Amino acid sequence: MDALTDSLGRVHTYLRVSVTDRCNYRCTYCMPAEGMSWMPRADLLTYEEIGRVVGVFAGLGIRRVRITGGEPLIRRDIDALVASVAGTPGIRDVAMTTNAHHLARLADRLAAAGLSRINVSLDSLVPERFARLTRGGDLARVLDGIQAARDAGLGPIKINAVLLEGENDDEIDSLVDYFARWADDTELRFIEYMPFEARWHRCVPAAKVREQLSRRFTLAPRKTVPGDAPPGGIQGSGAGPARTWVLAENGLTVGFISPLTEHFCATCNRLRLMADGHLRTCLAHEDTPSLRDLIRGGADDPALADAIRAMVLGKPWGHDCGEHDGALFQGVMTGIGG
Ligand code: 5AD
Ligand code: SF4
Repeated sequence: MDALTDSLGRVHTYLRVSVTDRCNYRCTYCMPAEGMSWMPRADLLTYEEIGRVVGVFAGLGIRRVRITGGEPLIRRDIDALVASVAGTPGIRDVAMTTNAHHLARLADRLAAAGLSRINVSLDSLVPERFARLTRGGDLARVLDGIQAARDAGLGPIKINAVLLEGENDDEIDSLVDYFARWADDTELRFIEYMPFEARWHRCVPAAKVREQLSRRFTLAPRKTVPGDAPPGGIQGSGAGPARTWVLAENGLTVGFISPLTEHFCATCNRLRLMADGHLRTCLAHEDTPSLRDLIRGGADDPALADAIRAMVLGKPWGHDCGEHDGALFQGVMTGIGG
């Protein structure tokens, strides 16, 4: 059996691939105010190297891939990478997470390359606040990008909103009302802020958001579809971390990703390949050796597969980061890709 099973019996079928740590935005919850020193370009995996690594992962049972960054749409010819991953035998589904700044221009090309779905990060519908939270982002462009993605058939589009106490948590209702008009092909997900390196913000617990929504709406558990966890329940294999409900009054699907208050480590099925070729078997910890170093040192595919299996076997149980206490996540999000 080739499945990537760890020492706790968790089976891994989902790989997130960060193609760059760079981003054209600098969200306040993702990067420090003083900016970042980016990975040297020579350290990034080439598309050829990524394609090879994805092929090895597919041979080990990975079936779904999500392309992330930083911002994946700023890497040149990203549609070529999408096509190569989508064409890898064994890979059934290729998705992407983007800030959508360049999406209006690229949505058709991505769909043609074989991208099946897209997630868009969007934390405010107030243009000035959006610009402040993203340190320079353009809300109108992002909304145009979402529209273009719907037109290109990249739905259901998941809108990822990270809620920050005292900064955008007054927009829960307006986000719901805005996306309810596109309830047929759009889902809204509220994400708890995770502190990387430092606690720049305070998180808004998912239970609080659900309680607020339940004053206006009836929250009906959504029928579980592949990629979801049942609301508040235990995930099946192949499940993602979002717990989803449908608002009965307007039909909008609302998901909650709550790494701090409703840990989902016990059923984690995901692995992360960072842009520099390091694997993260757990979001909260860095693994070695770097797959890039192995490749550039001449490792063949079976050797890569052995290294991956060994790292997965050593995957830590999870994180103990709580709402206001516990360890911080290691590294910075922009190099990991969410
Ligand atoms: N906490 C929670 N979510 C974050 N993201 C980026 N940084 C953080 C953080 N510190 C989100 C982005 C994006 C997804 C990949 O991760 O908004 O939607
Ligand atoms: Fe860029 Fe996304 Fe990080 Fe914002 S959260 S700075 S859009 S990578």
